[in-house]
Formats: sequence, structure tokens, C-alpha cells
Amino acid sequence: MPHVAFVAPHFLETTNLYLASFASLDGVTLSVISEDPQEALPARLRPHVAGYYRVTSSLDADALAAAARGLTQTVGRIDRLVGALEQLQVPMARARDAVDIEGIRDSVAQSFRDKDRMKTVLRESGIPVARSALCESPDDLREFVNLVGFPVIVKPQAGLGTRDTFRVTSDADLAALTGRGVVPSRARPLQVEEFVRAREHTCETVTVRGVPVWRSGTRYLPTPLEVVENPWIQYCVLLPREDEETVWTKFHPINAAALAALFGPAASTAAGSALTHMEWFLREDGTALVNEVGARPPGVGIMPLMSIAHETDLYRDWARLIAFDQFTPRKRRWAAGAAFLRGHGGGTRVVSVKGVEDAVAASGSALVELRTPKVGQARATGYEGEGVALVRHATTEGARRALLDVIEKIQVRYG
Ligand SMILES: Nc1ncnc2c1ncn2[C@@H]1O[C@H](COP(=O)(O)OP(=O)(O)O)[C@@H](O)[C@H]1O
Ligand SMILES: [Mg+2]
Repeated sequence: MPHVAFVAPHFLETTNLYLASFASLDGVTLSVISEDPQEALPARLRPHVAGYYRVTSSLDADALAAAARGLTQTVGRIDRLVGALEQLQVPMARARDAVDIEGIRDSVAQSFRDKDRMKTVLRESGIPVARSALCESPDDLREFVNLVGFPVIVKPQAGLGTRDTFRVTSDADLAALTGRGVVPSRARPLQVEEFVRAREHTCETVTVRGVPVWRSGTRYLPTPLEVVENPWIQYCVLLPREDEETVWTKFHPINAAALAALFGPAASTAAGSALTHMEWFLREDGTALVNEVGARPPGVGIMPLMSIAHETDLYRDWARLIAFDQFTPRKRRWAAGAAFLRGHGGGTRVVSVKGVEDAVAASGSALVELRTPKVGQARATGYEGEGVALVRHATTEGARRALLDVIEKIQVRYG
């Protein structure tokens, strides 16, 4: 019976979904590593949890290693150390190294986490990526700009959620960035890349011991950069009905080669039984570039969208993949989409929410779930906004229409 140790920094809603999925599997011994006290573990999950270890920081590899050792003593040898959040991936990999647990080890985790290393590995394997450099000084940055010209994109070496990511189109932008203290240094290098004008797609891939067995993809409308540049935009993620269209399938060989390059020889081990989240650019001329890859389940609603579109529970499917190296590929039955509801205006709270009834009436049976922002609710810090709508339709166009109904009709104001 595999012993899975799941890292749940706090028992937040999404984390609980992943945790509940492991708890629901027969034949798994489940332990939990958390910063929260054991009493915080949701009551319905308690009967399924064999071991519990509290850590002061779940982002600290040493703390995770100590937890893994502790659980090994009390519950037994750990077969899988797992967590869904991007920030956990490197500390968990280091803890696997320290305690000798199968799965993604530090060197592989770095290839996914470090944007410069990721692009270097991909480029060296002949996979199309944007030109990029890791800058350790303003001179490095200037040199790169001189080489590729404006615009460029400047972002952290190990970022997430488009945080601290800037489009730089001119010398004035560059000076403004410096004014804001965004200056590359040896201690804090910055990733700089040629700006790619393209549609932004994702490719979610399930590999079993390195072999791709299932894929799904979405399109960001508009791109995460535009979403962050324009805080009022209510944006969408669309999962199309067609899984055999060449827009998607032409990318599959690139996706496979990129994953093989990033996993390296570890692909054929337990590390290679993974659900990965790849972001890629599709340019006007039909060519594709890989942007980045997470060796973890996707965010921005893509997990529920994949579940809806394939009539399955992807959270549970992922848990089974991790625990048993098993995955049953599902056919796509629906197009699906998520619309993220965000407000206009300044202020720190939601002060009004309008148009909900109109949106519900217009989107009709396509609307699967609607979480409306609540008056008084604090303004969200990330780009996922204060509310979300999930839709599904037999056609991609129908899902797109329903998404538009939601974002055109629902109006949120901050104050
Ligand atoms: N080279 C690039 N060209 C154009 N847009 C980019 C480029 N790199 C990043 N972006 C934009 O910034 C967003 C965030 O960058 P990304 O590399 O995905 O980092 P993360 O998601 O980890 O913050 C992307 O989704 C994309 O919209
Ligand atoms: Mg990204």
C-alpha cells in the first residue's frame, strides 16, 4: 500500500480538494504535512489520515525533510511526497533528495522552476523558445535590449502568477523600471526575454513514467500579461471542444520533446508520472514557442474545466496517477470555460455587483457554476479576482458565447 505524504501549507479550499482526492483512494496510506495545527484538518478527512506532521514553514526543504523522517518513523517509508502549489515543488524535491524518496529530485525541479535554466535546457534540445538571458546587472539588460530590440519582457528568475512581470517597450519604460527598483543584480538576477506577439495557449499533459498518455489544452483570453496590465479586465480561459484540431495536435510533438528534455533520464521513473502545465505561444504564422512548464497541476480554473469537459474528476485522477502511476485517458465531451470576475475602480473592497441575473439568464444551461463577488469582500490580491463562472457547451463557440455573456453583463465595482 503506497504511503503518500501530502504537503498542505494551509487547509484552503483548493488544497482540500487535492487532499480529499488522496483521502478518497482505496489502498493509499495518507499522511499530511502542514503549517496548520492538526485540529484544522477538515473533520471529514481525519479518518483517512494516518500521520500528521506540523512544520513552521512548508517552503523550507529542511523542515519538509524533517517531517518526512518523522512520518517515516511513525507511519512507515514514504513512497510519494507531493503537493500541488508551484512554490512547493523545489523544497519538496530537496526533501526527496534528503530522505531518498522517489519522484522529482532537486536538479529536475530546478529545470522547471528556474526560468533561465528551463529556457536553456529547452533551447539546447532544439525546442523553439524566445530568446532570453539572465541579467545580473543593468549592463546585461541593456546588452540584451541592444541585441533583440524593444519590446522585451522582464520577470523574476523563479516567478509565478505573472507577479513582477513587465513589458518594456522603450528606454523610458526601462528607466521607469529602474525607478521602481526593478534592477538586476548578482544577488537578484532578472530574466529578460524577447517579447513574443502571439496567442497564449496551455497544454496539460499526463505522462506515465515519461510517456504522454493524455492531453488537454486551453487558451487564455487575453494573455496573463494583459490581465495584469489592466486590472479591470474580466478574463477567460477557454477549453475547446475539439481535441483533434491541428492548432493543438501540431504542438504535441513539441510538448513531448520539451517534457522529455526537462525531465531528462528521470522521465522513466516515478518523477515522470506527472500532470504538467505548459504555457505556449501560437504566432500568427502558425509557429509555436514553449514559454514555461510547471511540473504540477494547473491553476486558473483549468482543473475544474478539464473535469467538466471530460466528465471526470481530474483531482482524483491526478491523485491516482501520483499514488499508483495509473491514469485512464478520457475523451472530451464538452467545451468549457472559466470567466474571472474582477472590479473597476480604486478601493480595497467590493462595493457593488450588478448584472448577475442578466448573466444567468443569458448564459442559460451553459452555466455550470457561478461564484459571484460579494459586497464587502476584500479586493483579491492575485489575478483570479473575487468571483468565477464556469461554463460548458457542446461547441467551443457556445462556451465562448456564454463566457462573454458573463463578463459583459456582470459588473463589479471596488470602492
Ligand atoms: N517572452 C514573452 N513574450 C511575451 N509575453 C510574455 C513572455 N514571457 C512572459 N510573458 C507574459 O507574462 C506572463 C507571465 O510570464 P510567465 O513566463 O508565464 O511566468 P509566471 O506565470 O511564472 O509568472 C505570461 O503568461 C505572458 O502573458
Ligand atoms: Mg506562466
